Amino acid sequence: MHVLFVSPEVWPLARVGGLAEVSHDLPLALAKRGHRISVVTPHCRLAADVAARLERMDLTLEVPVSWRRHRAEVHRLPAGPGVDIYLIGHEHLFDREGLYGNAYGDYEDNAERFIFFSRAAMELALALGQPVDLIHCHDWTTGLIPLYLRAIYGQEPLLKQAGTVMTVHNLGTQGIFWHYDMPLTGLGWEYFTPEAIEFYGKINFLKAGLVFADMITTVSPTYAKEILTPEMGFGLEGVLQARRDRLVAVTNGIDHQAWDPSRDPYLAATYGPDNLAPKLRCGEQARQLMGLAPSNGRPLACFIGRLVDRRGMDLLVSSLETILEMGLDLAVMGYGEDRYHVLLQDLRRRNPERLGVYVGYEMEMAHQLVAGSDMLLMPSRYEPCGLHQLHAMRYGTVPVVRATGGLEDTVVDQRPDQPGHGFKFVAYDQPSFLEALHRALEVYRQPELWRAMMLRGMAQDHSWDKATPAYDEIYQRARAISQAQTDA
Ligand code: GLC
Repeated sequence: MHVLFVSPEVWPLARVGGLAEVSHDLPLALAKRGHRISVVTPHCRLAADVAARLERMDLTLEVPVSWRRHRAEVHRLPAGPGVDIYLIGHEHLFDREGLYGNAYGDYEDNAERFIFFSRAAMELALALGQPVDLIHCHDWTTGLIPLYLRAIYGQEPLLKQAGTVMTVHNLGTQGIFWHYDMPLTGLGWEYFTPEAIEFYGKINFLKAGLVFADMITTVSPTYAKEILTPEMGFGLEGVLQARRDRLVAVTNGIDHQAWDPSRDPYLAATYGPDNLAPKLRCGEQARQLMGLAPSNGRPLACFIGRLVDRRGMDLLVSSLETILEMGLDLAVMGYGEDRYHVLLQDLRRRNPERLGVYVGYEMEMAHQLVAGSDMLLMPSRYEPCGLHQLHAMRYGTVPVVRATGGLEDTVVDQRPDQPGHGFKFVAYDQPSFLEALHRALEVYRQPELWRAMMLRGMAQDHSWDKATPAYDEIYQRARAISQAQTDA
């Protein structure tokens, strides 16, 4: 199939969260199964080395937004066999410091920016001149696309066969804008209804995707159940329930080549299940990197991810001094809410040898921290899938996680009567979190048991090759549904 894979974040062009890695790795894995993937993404402000690899295409798109036409430049980045990344450029809309916003919050013109992007993806498909079999959309920024296909582009010979798949990586952000933005969408007011994209008097981009896509997917089986409940459905549970026959879960994978402790170029020493000792060297490297004192028998735990409540930052920060008292050292890497930057830096000043903080995200450092830590903490409030715990297990780093979404599905709790490869807690509160950490420390003090846990984690297979057959089936199903509609 020729798949138009539309995503706002694609590694190494832009990364806010795990979506970026998925949008890079999944197309490559799908291409191995014979699909041809055209990835479409905004041309954000790029690092110079990445920008230098782009090819400028001899193509200018005219993208209708309201009564105007925005011109979009297109660049191409060949990503691997069968995969091309197309970057949609618009200086005024995308050449900015951040992708969704800056330190002051979300950009106020996000409706216009992502309406433009979604329509540009459709216009690009027409300009490329090759029939599209399937359009795979990711999260709210691309939610309007399945509706555009129906309302505006459905008669285009290159697009009319296309099935659509909407993947939810995070239901918590939906792209909700006031109804005055309706004319910007280019859609008639007949779509501003509860059955379509109206949502409590406003426009909801993600809802458009959930209502109009042929198939809906999300990134773990537990999350697929959670989003049907009022607690985790963020107001869209009813919409999802109505379409639950079209909702399928596929757990994310990770790139087993890029994340392999036995040949990871970023590590001070490489190691594997048969040779764990060099991991200690990685521990020293991680401690140095974070400015921490040598271990002295204390294990190192790390947290990698956005510093926001939904990742459990409030729980982590309020438990932090107790965690240090328990004898764990801690390294935190991530970027997020300003108050957490301030709080963490303050805690670091008070515990300079035991707490390391890096505000930002560096891929290289993520590898070094995962390899050098004994445990990885993910106390998320909710977690659609989570990738760091998968990296951690592959590196013999034991995850301590809240039992939610993909964390529930991918981590098996270690109990006296049940050999696991991680520690889980259920209630989102400090006693439960600390109880899991106590259990982890107890096992850590029994080296043989701990080693066995590390090895069980390392033996897990979460490579993309395991997930792609499921996407294959979903693509076929979406296309069959759309064809049946076209024929009818
Ligand atoms: C989002 C989710 C995360 C998931 C990732 C990729 O960042 O929060 O849980 O792993 O998307 O699907």
